[in-house]
Amino acid sequence: MAAVAERPKLLHQATLVKRVDLGHDYFELFLNCPDLAASMQAGQFVNLRVRDELLPLLRRPFSSFDYLKDARGRATGISILGHVVGQGTALMARMAEGLKVSLHGPLGKPFEPPEDPATRVLMVGGGIGIAPFLHLTRQWSSGPSKRELVMLAGGRSVKDLVFMNRFNGAGADVLLATEDGSAGVKGRVTVLLEAELKALKGKPALVLTCGPMAMMAAVSRICQAAGTPCYASLERVMGCGYGVCNGCVVEVDAPGSERGYRYAKTCVEGTVMDCASIRW
Ligand SMILES: Cc1cc2nc3c(=O)[nH]c(=O)nc-3n(C[C@H](O)[C@H](O)[C@H](O)COP(=O)(O)OP(=O)(O)OC[C@H]3O[C@@H](n4cnc5c(N)ncnc54)[C@H](O)[C@@H]3O)c2cc1C
Ligand code: FES
Repeated sequence: MAAVAERPKLLHQATLVKRVDLGHDYFELFLNCPDLAASMQAGQFVNLRVRDELLPLLRRPFSSFDYLKDARGRATGISILGHVVGQGTALMARMAEGLKVSLHGPLGKPFEPPEDPATRVLMVGGGIGIAPFLHLTRQWSSGPSKRELVMLAGGRSVKDLVFMNRFNGAGADVLLATEDGSAGVKGRVTVLLEAELKALKGKPALVLTCGPMAMMAAVSRICQAAGTPCYASLERVMGCGYGVCNGCVVEVDAPGSERGYRYAKTCVEGTVMDCASIRW
């Protein structure tokens, strides 16, 4: 009889080992879950069950913020950086330490390292969209995926960047921009991106972005004009997280098709997608 291939486990019971209130409605949950952490790549997400009650009915999607390991370097879990926007995230911000939390994942496709190790990777994040880039920095700052990393982080004010000290010593150069000038350069994060692209002087680069759609659309336009490849992690409002509900679609080019575009499910075809194919 032919051997049956073992399917990767997707449902996990994590333990909330620590919850940190970061202020201004931001919080970080440290979740012990070694089997999930061992297979989770930056850019992927988990669907989290907020509580064992009917409501909220749907799981909520979250990126891995940090990748947690023990003194021997073995994966122990992930952390989630959360921002309170509604019922689910408000409940998460008050979760009790020791709680068992049901996670479905890892879901979606991760960021892929550029082939040429000399490529400078510019990570462009806005607000809570900065979350996947700490995990990415941990992954790509050493070992075979080691690349030169620059984190360009933007927010309306310093209050949207209260978690940026978590990047200290992680392995990326960090530059900040705020619209009110309360931290870093005054202006939008795209100002930093334009300056970084100009300073490349022929050095190969890859831009990765995550944040509000308007910001990512602007990042995509700048990269297209500069001829720099750009990939975005699209955080659409999601229903199921695994390709069934059509809740997360985005229009992408489909040359040769009748309409010239099609709807791509970001939860399974992404969330990381080539900006050049997206109809912003
Ligand atoms: C792949 C992915 C990764 C994500 N990673 C993170 C993360 O690391 N940290 C984090 O804080 N949030 C993240 N989000 C957004 C997070 O899932 C939503 O904020 C959360 O589901 C809202 O739940 P709620 O019950 O608090 O709010 P709801 O009551 O469901 O909604 C409140 C408001 O938030 C809006 N909203 C809901 N989902 C999203 C979304 N996906 N994007 C933008 N607005 C939304 C709703 O339209 C509504 O206006 C991610 C989303 C996706 C799809
Ligand atoms: S979230 Fe259901 S299809 Fe993508």
